[in-house]
Amino acid sequence: MLKKISVNEVRVGMYLHALEGNWLDHPFWKTRFVLKDPQDLAKLRASGLDGVWIDVSKGLDVAPVITEDAVVAPPVTFSATAPAPVLSSAMPRPTSPRPPPEPSRSMEEELRQAAALCRQGRDKVQSMFGEARLGRAVDTEQCLPLVNDIANSVFRNPGALVSLARLKTQDDYTYMHSMAVCALMVALGRELGLSEDACREAGLAGMMHDLGKAAIPIDVLNKPGKLTTEEFELIKTHPVRGHEMLIEGKGAGELVLDVCLHHHERVDGAGYPHGLSDEALTTAARMGAVCDVYDAITSNRPYKAGWDPAASIAAMASWKGHFDPDIFKAFVKSLGIYPIGSLVRLQSGRLAVVTAQHETSLVAPIVKAFFSTKSNMPITPQLIDLSRGPDKIVAREDPKTWGFPHLDELWAGDAVTKK
Ligand code: C2E
Ligand code: SIN
Ligand code: FE
Repeated sequence: MLKKISVNEVRVGMYLHALEGNWLDHPFWKTRFVLKDPQDLAKLRASGLDGVWIDVSKGLDVAPVITEDAVVAPPVTFSATAPAPVLSSAMPRPTSPRPPPEPSRSMEEELRQAAALCRQGRDKVQSMFGEARLGRAVDTEQCLPLVNDIANSVFRNPGALVSLARLKTQDDYTYMHSMAVCALMVALGRELGLSEDACREAGLAGMMHDLGKAAIPIDVLNKPGKLTTEEFELIKTHPVRGHEMLIEGKGAGELVLDVCLHHHERVDGAGYPHGLSDEALTTAARMGAVCDVYDAITSNRPYKAGWDPAASIAAMASWKGHFDPDIFKAFVKSLGIYPIGSLVRLQSGRLAVVTAQHETSLVAPIVKAFFSTKSNMPITPQLIDLSRGPDKIVAREDPKTWGFPHLDELWAGDAVTKK
């Protein structure tokens, strides 16, 4: 059970679930662990944090004085009829709010809203990049209403917008990528137990992270092939250029500036522009790196087709030195091992596409089976909650080897074409 306590009540042996306040400044960005070191306790007490969430099922409890705000609200549930849930701003989730296991009106509704948001958002982001290209000052705060809408969508249903924003056309990549990284940052922030405000700030940082691409010639950016060394060197200036543009403009806070400048850094120090590593890399920069690469590799580009979501998760997990392992783990928990839209083979021999995540299981999502490999024929699409057995995922499948033309419509319905 989770309890919120003040930093003064913390003692060695408690399991720290999440920290409140300015999470970037506190010394523990790995927010879930048993506090063992008295020096850590001293640092925590000196940190000026507003409060701490402890999990008393995994560590020591406070002395048994029950206060009102020590009681955690019940987990938020979603239904087709209930109004949009209002989350207490500081409440870390005991578990992620996942879509319900049945095909729900709310997922369809969420996808429809997400499609509209993609349309409007893309236009807004495109005009912001257009202004920046013309050398006009960028006001980061202009994006707040859009970021707010995206964050609310992600809070209600973390998979919908993230999955839809993955589907890009040849030339809207940069704009949709900004929206997608915004949504992914919010989802990851929630998984890390950040407050709603901190999630929104992370989302804003995702929205602005590639602003510097407005300083790169379009023909280099959208080049339908491999870049020359000179072209890549030019592109590698985009974090610094974006950072300059944000400073010259107005409304960009520390976190936004940090993610813009450092989203191409790697934990092994092999990234750019500064080759930062270890302690020099903030949580926010580590989050930005993961979200940026995931959306980049799952998207269709003028120079390569996007990879399957589950294959992308597997590939990123195998890379050494690029990502922070704990942040990456949280990222996988927020999307699933088989994110929405992944193509999988079931033990029964059927092929299926993932349509929603299960509430607690990362390996047993809700899928839609639509093809039999035994008869090599399409079958009537059937929704299956794999957590109820007996069928299960036995492999990822590469969509390119099958070439199903309407795979995305199977999970997104007409939101695909309305986007
Ligand atoms: P982006 O496309 O938004 O990609 C962001 C980051 O995702 C890349 O940073 C890289 O770390 C990762 N990524 C993207 N695609 C792949 C891939 O196929 N394999 C692997 N392993 N990682 C991938 P990076 O490499 O620093 O590139 C920065 C930007 O340079 C890219 O942003 C893109 O705009 C541009 N770029 C990179 N390679 C090419 C290319 O071959 N052709 C063109 N036209 N642009 C490229
Ligand atoms: C099928 O009916 O073969 C699968 C749907 C698709 O074309 O993607
Ligand atoms: Fe970038």
